[in-house]
Parts: sequence; structure tokens; C-alpha cells
Amino acid sequence: MTDIKTKLSEYSTKFNQALPAFFPLPQGREKRVVEAMQYSVTNGGKRLRPFLVCETAKLFDIDFENSIRTAVALEMLHSYSLIHDDLPAMDNDDLRRGKPTCHKQFDEATAILAGDGLLTYAFEILSSPQTCQDSSTRCELISLLASGAGAFDGMVAGQMLDLVAENLPQSEESEHLIKHIEEMKTGRLIRFACEAGAVLGRADSAQRQAIVDYSRKIGIAFQIADDILDVEGEQALVGKTLNKDATQGKVTFVSLYGLDQAKQIAKQLISEAKAIISVFGNKSQTLQDLAQYIIDRKY
Ligand code: IPE
Ligand code: IPE
Ligand code: MG
Ligand code: MG
Ligand code: MG
Repeated sequence: MTDIKTKLSEYSTKFNQALPAFFPLPQGREKRVVEAMQYSVTNGGKRLRPFLVCETAKLFDIDFENSIRTAVALEMLHSYSLIHDDLPAMDNDDLRRGKPTCHKQFDEATAILAGDGLLTYAFEILSSPQTCQDSSTRCELISLLASGAGAFDGMVAGQMLDLVAENLPQSEESEHLIKHIEEMKTGRLIRFACEAGAVLGRADSAQRQAIVDYSRKIGIAFQIADDILDVEGEQALVGKTLNKDATQGKVTFVSLYGLDQAKQIAKQLISEAKAIISVFGNKSQTLQDLAQYIIDRKY
């Protein structure tokens, strides 16, 4: 049996091979922004969200060829969120995926534009009939991604809260807030990854609910794992500056509960997620293994 790390790495290879076709370089001097976009998408990354799109679609016998464009669109949007997250006005990070962040490699203005370019490109990709023949399915994907990424309970809302919650004292309000932040800033795109697979596969409402419930659990656990790696990860593996959260006074599960309890919470969420997705029987094995990988990962 192929283990989950091998599966993810084989998937990444296939996914990365599909990427160059999405970046035709313009002839004019505006090509700089496309180079910055390409740099930020092709500079590594686990490809966990794309993998989730394709694996969830696979539950419904939708193959790689018929889910890859949705997966690419999501990775474009995710990469935009990372470029902007790293900007001096936000987390002010120099290192991303083991390489200089976009604004360090290019410049701040180009990085802002590269983020804008990737955000809009995600929707251009989704809206093409090549992504899915059925226009109402495309519309649904576009609407789901827009709300998942947006300012009304989506990723942008989560990022806003992440900034305003800096240096908040420990209180009951913080505990409620942190769950909300993690659910939005990270959970919503992970939820889109899974829900998109269900939409492509025309899941019935019970199947879709199970997939959404699974995605919400792994989404929070994913961010808890990120917060833990920020404290006890290995710099060379993580590829990001460590101890950023404490330095910047971020409210995280780790700052609120400490490492041990944060690990327990993540473990519990993952065991619930696995039980939920197991309604798909043997077909869900990869998604179960992926859930486990989310908290076992070293980067
Ligand atoms: C990083 O996401 C940002 C968070 C939401 C924590 P990933 O850990 O998936 O980053 P890449 O895509 O693998 O670089
Ligand atoms: C970022 O959370 C989430 C998004 C980019 C939306 P973090 O700020 O913790 O992500 P990293 O640690 O920089 O990847
Ligand atoms: Mg951040
Ligand atoms: Mg950050
Ligand atoms: Mg982090």
C-alpha cells in the first residue's frame, strides 16, 4: 500500500507538471508581474489543497483530468493569500517555502500586484468551460470560492481578525475568537477544496454534509499544526521564519492552551474527521490518511 507521503508527492509532481501551461509570459514589460505570480506558485508548497480537491472528487469517480483545473484555481488563490500574508504590512516575512518571499525576490508593489493577479486568475480559470462543461456547476464553484476567500466570514475576514487580535489578553473571549480566526483564515479554503470535489462529483446532500464536516475539522487542525510548527518545527524543513507568532503577539491555540493541549485538541479533531469521512468506506482511506498527515507533518 502506498503511504500518504508518497501519494502526496506523486500528486505534487503531476500537479507541478500541469502548471507551466498556466503561465504564458507576456512579451511586454508587464511580464514582471506574471513572473512574480509564477515564482510564487511554482516555488514549492505541499499542494495539500489541490490534493484535497482531486481526492474528494475521486470519491465520485471524477478523475485527475476533470478536477485539476479546479485544483489549480484554488492553489493560485492560496498562493495569493500567502504573498499578501507575507507583506511588510501584514506578517512581514522574508522566507516562504524555503525561498525569499515574493516582495523580497521582486519588490513590494510587484508582490501586491502578483497577489491581485493570482486572485483574479483563479476565477478566470474556474469560469472556463475547460474546467467543467456544465455552466451551473462552474457558477457554483465560483460562488463557493468567492465566499470562502472573501471578507464575509471567509479567508479575508479571518486575516483581518488575525491582525486585530494581536496582543489580546488571555480570556474567554480570546478562546472563542481564536477558533473563529482559524476557521476562517485557513479553514475556509480547505473547506472549499473538499466541497469543490463534492460539487464536481454531484454529491447528494448527506454526502456533501459529511465532506463539509470533515473539512471543517481538518481545517482547524491544519492551522493548529501550523501554529505548533511555528514553535517547534525545524527551520530547514518548514521553510518559513519560526517563532513569528510569539514575536508578533498572535493569538493561536498554542498561545492560549500551550503546546500539549493544542496537540490534544488537534488530535481529537482529526479522529472526528476520520470517523466522519469513513462513511465513504474504503474509498475514503486516502482522505483518512491525509487527515492524520495534517497533524503528523514536519512542514
Ligand atoms: C500555509 O499553508 C498557510 C496556512 C494557512 C497555515 P500551507 O502550509 O499549506 O503552505 P504551502 O502551500 O505548503 O506552502
Ligand atoms: C496565514 O496564517 C493564513 C493565510 C495565508 C490566509 P499564517 O500567517 O500563520 O501562515 P504562515 O505561517 O505565514 O504560512
Ligand atoms: Mg498571518
Ligand atoms: Mg504568516
Ligand atoms: Mg503560521
